[in-house]
Order: sequence, then structure tokens, then C-alpha cells
Amino acid sequence: MSAQTGEPARARRRGVGDFVKGRPPIVGLTAYTAPVAGLLDPHVDFLLVGDSVGMVVYGFESTLPVTVGMMIAHGAAVMRGSARALVVVDLPFGSYQASPEEAFRTAARIMAETGCAAVKLEGGVELAETVQFLTSRGIPVMGHVGLMPQSVHAVGGFRVQGRGAEASERVAADAAAIAQAGAFSLVIEGTVEPVARAITEAVPVPTIGIGASPACDGQILVTDDVLGLFTQFKPRFVKRYAELAPLIDEAAAQYAAEVRARSFPAPEHCFGVQ
Ligand code: KIV
Repeated sequence: MSAQTGEPARARRRGVGDFVKGRPPIVGLTAYTAPVAGLLDPHVDFLLVGDSVGMVVYGFESTLPVTVGMMIAHGAAVMRGSARALVVVDLPFGSYQASPEEAFRTAARIMAETGCAAVKLEGGVELAETVQFLTSRGIPVMGHVGLMPQSVHAVGGFRVQGRGAEASERVAADAAAIAQAGAFSLVIEGTVEPVARAITEAVPVPTIGIGASPACDGQILVTDDVLGLFTQFKPRFVKRYAELAPLIDEAAAQYAAEVRARSFPAPEHCFGVQ
């Protein structure tokens, strides 16, 4: 309750300043729609409107076909559905890699049209100049290193990163460059534990792991994986906390059977039944 107005105090939405290293682990989940964002909001520190939306909602085989328009529509929905969590929206493939100026235009448009407080982009050393350009112009950036799904064709698949001296040095250099460029946090995806641990110890900003071990400062998972809604494949790093697919199957089957048997709608679902 507010002492000034006597009205119920509204929960403050988290900002990038709440991402503090060395505190309790930071909790993130992806969200793409307003109702799901509302359900997740009380439990997480941040909601990521990931370009994984392309695979789990639109049925694409990769994240590459996702457009800025899609990210804006889903980002705005997640902002409307949530009140408390920091909302971070992914910059989709092809909308930021060409130049820092292109990245700025995309990020500024996404922030203005969704109301989100930060964007995420994939990339290492080669994107450091872009991250520096954005962060020095008021755009909070979450980096994303290790396994980078937007590079799936360039690296020949969704492969675990950081195995061997050369590969581990590459991921570590990417993380250091993006952190130094001003990112407020770093997602480390699909990376072996010793490399994720070394990066977490080396960089001054919180690391958020997905398939990168509990050594990270926080964790994120794709919500459709967590709920057992995305069943095409299940990466080793996913833990399913619910199995919703069979429940949906059962509900749809029962509805179809009742419509065919004319037992739905029943009188209580009808208006002006004689
Ligand atoms: O798009 C996404 O959901 C992501 C997470 C896997 C981190 O980038």
C-alpha cells in the first residue's frame, strides 16, 4: 500500500541495474505471449522474448526466418502480460550484423515499439564494436556467446562449444570482448562447464547459462521445453518440469468426442434454451 495515495503499491519492474553478479542466481525463462508472460512473471527475474519463437511457435526449423515485426509483436505482448520482470527482446538474424548503425536502428525500433528495457544479440569478437556502439548510445545489451543458433549453418549444426584448446579460447575471447564492450550480462549457451566457469569468473557482468552448467550466475530455459510443449527434440540441458502435450491431446480428444456425441454444448453453455 502506498503511504501517499493509499492505493495498492504496484510492483516495480526490474531493470538492468538489478542484474547483480554474486547474488542469488538470476532466473530467466522465455515468453512469447501475454497470458504465459503473466503466469511466469511472479517467478522470474527476466523474461526473454527469444527468437526461439520461430521454432517453438511458428514451426520453423531454425531461428533464421524470424523477422523484426514478429519480435515486436511478441515483445509488446509480453510487456502487456507482465508487470515485474525485466523484458529482453532478441534482435533477429539479419537485423543487426551488417553495421552498428543498422543494429542501432533495429534495437531502437524494438525498444520504442515494445517498451522493453533491453535487447539481446548473438556474437563474439566480431560484434564487439556493435555492442559498444549500442551501449554508448543508451541501449542495454545482453550478449549471447557459445552456441549461437543464428550461426547454425555456418558452424554445421547445433554443436556444443568450447571443446579443445582453440575452441575454448575462442568462446572465452568472445565473452571477454562483449563484456568489455558494455553488455550488462551474457548468455552462454551449449558450452562445456570449465569454459563457462572460467568466463563467469573472468567477466565483471552476470553470465546466464543455458546448457552451460550451474557455474553461471543465472539460468534460462525455453519455456516450451520446460513445460513439455515443444516435443520435436529435447536437448540434454533441458529439464521438463511439466508434461503439457499429453494434457492438450487428452483435452482436444475429449472435446471432439463430446461435440460428435452432441453432449457439448450442454444446457449450461447455451443462451435461451427452451
Ligand atoms: O531465443 C532464445 O530463446 C534464446 C535462449 C535460448 C537463450 O536465445
